Amino acid sequence: MDKIRLLFVCLGNICRSPAAHGIMQELVDREGLSGRIFIDSAGIGGWHIGELPDPRMRSHAADRRYALMHRGRQFDAQSDFDHFDMILVMDEENYADIKHMAHNDKEMQKVHYLAEYLCHHPQENTIPDPYYGGVEHFEYVLDLIEDACAGLLETLKKKNHLH
Ligand code: 4NP
Repeated sequence: MDKIRLLFVCLGNICRSPAAHGIMQELVDREGLSGRIFIDSAGIGGWHIGELPDPRMRSHAADRRYALMHRGRQFDAQSDFDHFDMILVMDEENYADIKHMAHNDKEMQKVHYLAEYLCHHPQENTIPDPYYGGVEHFEYVLDLIEDACAGLLETLKKKNHLH
């Protein structure tokens, strides 16, 4: 059976999207669904290609028992729209950038805000960039990502009859 392929996208691929990638992978592994769901992440920009996530994000994630080991890569408009079923962006800037790169409606329909899947933070429409923020921003972003990834997994399980 084909895997469901998810790509998390943010600006730099060192804070939000690798955190979403690592958290979603942990949730999927815990439920024994790693054979059914494939996860990756990428950045709009190419400044951090090959790098581990930002040390601040790694440290805050490690406090919650998530090991973030992704190496930064840049979104590839030639292959990523084809390879992934869902492209999950963090904010309006990511959405506009991806929209600009999409070749047609079918590709654009794969693009969703991760924040669409929030259950416990109904006031938020985006996952804000913590890069220039402090400790509390990183913690809040992780709260949002944990909430949204749990919501996304529940949606995928219902839609695809996964157990
Ligand atoms: P991210 O955060 O998009 O959540 O990975 C950022 C990381 C790096 C930069 C911007 C945002 N940067 O400009 O290098």
